[in-house]
Amino acid sequence: MTTTQLNQLTHRLETINGLSKGEIGQNRLVYSPTWVSAQQQVIKWGLDLGLQVSVDDFGTTYMDIPGTVHPDQVIAVGSHIDTVAQGGRFDGLYGVLGGLQAIEDLLETAGRPKKTIRLISFSEEEGSRFPDTFTGSKHYTNQKVNLAMTDPDGISFENARKDAVGKLNLPGVTHAKPGLPSTFTELHIEQGPRLIDRQLQIGLVTAIVGQRRFTVTVKGIANHAGTTPMDERADALEMAVTLISELRSRAHELNKNLTFTVGEMHVSPNTSNVIPGFVTFSIDTRYSSENVLDKFEHIINQVVEQNQTTNITSTVNRWAKSDVTHLDDQLLSANQKIADRLGFSSTQLASGAGHDSQIMAKVTRTTMIFVPSINGISHAPEENTSKEDLLRGVELLTESLRQQAY
Ligand code: GLV
Ligand code: MN
Ligand code: MN
Ligand code: MN
Repeated sequence: MTTTQLNQLTHRLETINGLSKGEIGQNRLVYSPTWVSAQQQVIKWGLDLGLQVSVDDFGTTYMDIPGTVHPDQVIAVGSHIDTVAQGGRFDGLYGVLGGLQAIEDLLETAGRPKKTIRLISFSEEEGSRFPDTFTGSKHYTNQKVNLAMTDPDGISFENARKDAVGKLNLPGVTHAKPGLPSTFTELHIEQGPRLIDRQLQIGLVTAIVGQRRFTVTVKGIANHAGTTPMDERADALEMAVTLISELRSRAHELNKNLTFTVGEMHVSPNTSNVIPGFVTFSIDTRYSSENVLDKFEHIINQVVEQNQTTNITSTVNRWAKSDVTHLDDQLLSANQKIADRLGFSSTQLASGAGHDSQIMAKVTRTTMIFVPSINGISHAPEENTSKEDLLRGVELLTESLRQQAY
């Protein structure tokens, strides 16, 4: 890849990231106005490059260069266009625009491929607006998504979806969901510190941890902060704090590598002089063995059950579960050889973050390429990767696509 191509990749990244200008971090929550503008921009770049663009019912965008010899064999590459709230500049987007850059480089240097190459910009992966994750890749792979689910403002997935997807119907775009590919490759930032700490340039992903997400609802009694005696309160927030701290220690006791995160909490009425009567909080927990996750899920239910009092009741609802995923060995070793040939230092590692690849791996041979995250930071505005590392990831991807499709 030349300096001009690197500049183009950087320029495209900044164009999309510029859509959240003036905000804290990136806020491309699925089907939001910023998400629509981003997906429209990706479509325009694809059309400019002469790719055949289609958009499905969920707003996932597919951009094909049809193969000259085996057009029905599809080598797919891509990632997601959405972000978490106050997210970073590379999570998801790098895989989409890095894929576009690789395709552009291949068209310039090698012309049309023998097999079809398909760039996919998945509509949603993060589970940050609606209570489900990976809805873009789930829809592509024919898994059910609950259309009636609502966001915190009460807007249904179905209504948000219809509205947003209607706006992707640009001239030259077909409305369709294409068939499944023969392979899928996702280029992504590592989102953790392992590569950067060991000064390695490339990570090749062996597996993706299983994850489960829950909402705990605590109902107490709202009352006056000054007149209600301390021993007669049914304080829902105090109970939430007790539950969180007990679960945090139980997780650590069970397995010190099991992750436990409470990232979201709603307190009602959320006023300084009222005892909280109602609280909800999220739990995100992950590990590389189902057995440990099963045990911890049992502990969550048990701890919540054991902490019921006459006036405070708590319930747990699990709304997302994904199993540990093993990625394709052959694609991994092919990429390992390419990385070695290009002189990139690398390691093979499991991913602690969830990815569309774990959904794609259920239906097709799937592999992932990681590049380092500076300071291991992700899902935050400080998320960053050096230009040299962005470049190395795209170069490896380009060679992998060349090997698979030409
Ligand atoms: C999604 O990126 C997740 O791993 O939470
Ligand atoms: Mn991601
Ligand atoms: Mn993410
Ligand atoms: Mn992810």
